[in-house]
Amino acid sequence: MAIQRLYALIVFGLLTLLDGANCMPAAATVTHTPSTSNPLTSTVVSSTVAPAPSCAVNHPSISAGKLRFAGVNIAGFDFGCGTDGTCTVAGAWPPLAQYYGYDGAGQMKHFVQNDGYNIFRLPVGWQYLTGNDTTAVSTLNATNFAEYDALVQACLSTGAHCIIDIHNYARFNGGIVGQGGPDNSVLAGLWSSIAKKYAHTPNVIFGVMNEPHDVPDITLWAASVQAVVTAIRRAGATTQLILLPGNNWTSAQTFVSSGSADALNKVRNPDGTKLNLIFDVHKYLDSDNSGSHPDCVTNNIDDSWAPLAQWLRCHGRQALNTETGGGNVADCVTFMSQQIAFQAANSDVFLGYLGWSAGNFDPTYTLAETPTENGTTWTDTMLVSSALSPKVNKLVVEPFTF
Ligand SMILES: *[C@@H]1O[C@H](CO)[C@@H](O)[C@H](O)[C@H]1NC(C)=O
Ligand SMILES: *[C@@H]1O[C@H](CO)[C@@H](O)[C@H](O)[C@H]1NC(C)=O
Ligand SMILES: *[C@@H]1O[C@H](CO)[C@@H](O)[C@H](O)[C@H]1NC(C)=O
Ligand SMILES: *[C@@H]1O[C@H](CO)[C@@H](O)[C@H](O)[C@H]1NC(C)=O
Repeated sequence: MAIQRLYALIVFGLLTLLDGANCMPAAATVTHTPSTSNPLTSTVVSSTVAPAPSCAVNHPSISAGKLRFAGVNIAGFDFGCGTDGTCTVAGAWPPLAQYYGYDGAGQMKHFVQNDGYNIFRLPVGWQYLTGNDTTAVSTLNATNFAEYDALVQACLSTGAHCIIDIHNYARFNGGIVGQGGPDNSVLAGLWSSIAKKYAHTPNVIFGVMNEPHDVPDITLWAASVQAVVTAIRRAGATTQLILLPGNNWTSAQTFVSSGSADALNKVRNPDGTKLNLIFDVHKYLDSDNSGSHPDCVTNNIDDSWAPLAQWLRCHGRQALNTETGGGNVADCVTFMSQQIAFQAANSDVFLGYLGWSAGNFDPTYTLAETPTENGTTWTDTMLVSSALSPKVNKLVVEPFTF
């Protein structure tokens, strides 16, 4: 029943978007028998799904049209991390000139001043922050944290919002948090340590975890996320945005069908509200959503963004697309522009997008969004200058003048 309702919502959302009709409460008249082979969905069926509270509104609000955030990942502190949650501490490479990296600070300044970006995501490995003990720990290594904080401060000094992203795939050295790996209290403790540092910094955003995948029990994962949210709020960071990631590399396409949306929709602040708890979704434009091919084949609208927008609207929730990207080729410019236009048209539920990636990625990297510097002049990659830059697409709120 719960599953049928989910699929009904998805189909209903697509139909409604197509004919632009006004919405009625989604009746479970559309039935769909989901594949029984997906262990993720079977975990969710047992949980009760409350009737969607506000499905009567399934069209973008009148104010939709401009996104609140546009930006890019400034990678480097995550280098050396594998998808099994192992991270070689020595592999981390600070994207700051003073630590022999690319000039991440200069990049961010350029992106803000010349492109109108207003958000950056700063990936970092858990082990870099705490050391690589046999068992995970919560205590920050002061030396390493100071280097990471230098990047956070460089970001904040531009006036942008700055996402702290623990880039560990729900894992520490192969063990899944709360499901065989570190206890929830360890990850919550890490976040408590971090949140104390930024409790009075409103532009910091807490990205709980990069791309959980192959997590056996989504309900248990939501409990891990709940522990982190509680810890961050209790550390005094009471108002900042917190990003909640789902299973399957937090794919926008399967965020609902994997059960992530329903499970994470139960996560609350200590005061019982869901204020500033934002879903974290990723989506690439290549053939397998891996973000490893230069060519783009989709704008993701029909299979990802449209059904997700419907679910979010029906449940009164919002999402931020913290990773997207493609090669610096014409097809990617076309599809990316379509994707951003759709997100902007649904900006009541989508807060914005961040490209992958600048920072310490060499400009020759397949998905490079790293600008090149010559004297005082920065030159953007093709995808940035032709699609992602708010200066070009004009689809992002404009606190800046060019
Ligand atoms: C991290 O520590 C574990 C446990 O001591 C060890 O097995 C592993 O090789 C270490 N990993 C790295 C990347 O240093
Ligand atoms: C912090 O990390 C650095 C670099 O990995 C290491 O040399 C140092 O011993 C660590 N400090 C503590 C207190 O663990
Ligand atoms: C994960 O998401 C991708 C699309 O982003 C999809 O192709 C794939 O089937 C999904 N995998 C699972 C296990 O749901
Ligand atoms: C850098 O700029 C200078 C001055 O405009 C120009 O002469 C030079 O060719 C540029 N270098 C590159 C690599 O574009």
